[in-house]
Amino acid sequence: MSTNQSSAIDQLSTEDLGAKLNPNLLPKHVAIIMDGNGRWAEARYLPRIAGHREGVKSIREITQACSDLGIQALTIYAFSHENWNRPAHETSALMNLLEDFLAEESRKLIEHGIRFRTIGRIKNLPASTIQRVHEAEQATAHLDRLHLTVALSYGGRAEIVDAVREILRDVQKGTLQPDEVDEAVLQQHLYTQGLPDPDLLIRTSGETRISNFLLWQLAYAELYFTPTLWPDFRRHEFLLALLDYQGRERRFGRVLSRTTSS
Ligand code: FPP
Repeated sequence: MSTNQSSAIDQLSTEDLGAKLNPNLLPKHVAIIMDGNGRWAEARYLPRIAGHREGVKSIREITQACSDLGIQALTIYAFSHENWNRPAHETSALMNLLEDFLAEESRKLIEHGIRFRTIGRIKNLPASTIQRVHEAEQATAHLDRLHLTVALSYGGRAEIVDAVREILRDVQKGTLQPDEVDEAVLQQHLYTQGLPDPDLLIRTSGETRISNFLLWQLAYAELYFTPTLWPDFRRHEFLLALLDYQGRERRFGRVLSRTTSS
């Protein structure tokens, strides 16, 4: 868990942090629980939406950083099942932010070779959001320099339930036998099918929970928790997280030393 950054590292500039990174030991897939937008805004006596707006700037910067570093996949938790319990004005403001982001960024996503995808029960979103999401997914479907996946109306348990339902349908059709169902088959029916499992999960704002995010896929991920609020989590903080990750020993249940990108 968490950062053991020495004070020496705290003194380094963003450029120096970048220079310290080992390009051969980068995670292939980073997942992020973006948390703390509301607290960021409240601390400034601003409406919560101002925190979400600032949070979108962090999304842009971290996506750019992943693209610059050659990280293959970034998956961000933008909206959970439980988030539907927020006041209607906040959920609709979040949907508007997402629509604006896609309208403004689609061209840049294509220019940078970024494939945009969503995971979750997208059918629960407003029709205008679904349309923008589908447009962006289609316009970037051929790209694969960086896979940017946004979890929307997402729940990890619901994802596993949906996968089991699909498998049962295949069994019913006779295209799959019950004994053929193994971990690989379940994995192929998850929303994230085709993506490697995340090597690193980052959660901002000091919370140390997984909150129903990528429950299956995070089995062997390294967890990094930082008190930094999401709107303040920019390239500098991201590099600190990556350096912390590179200091971990990843064993996958075996005896192994040093972080590996496998
Ligand atoms: C967490 O802060 C923030 C969210 C759950 C929403 C993030 C979503 C967006 C910024 C919408 C736009 C999405 C894209 C992909 C452009 P919080 O509100 O839970 O903060 P708090 O815990 O401090 O209240």
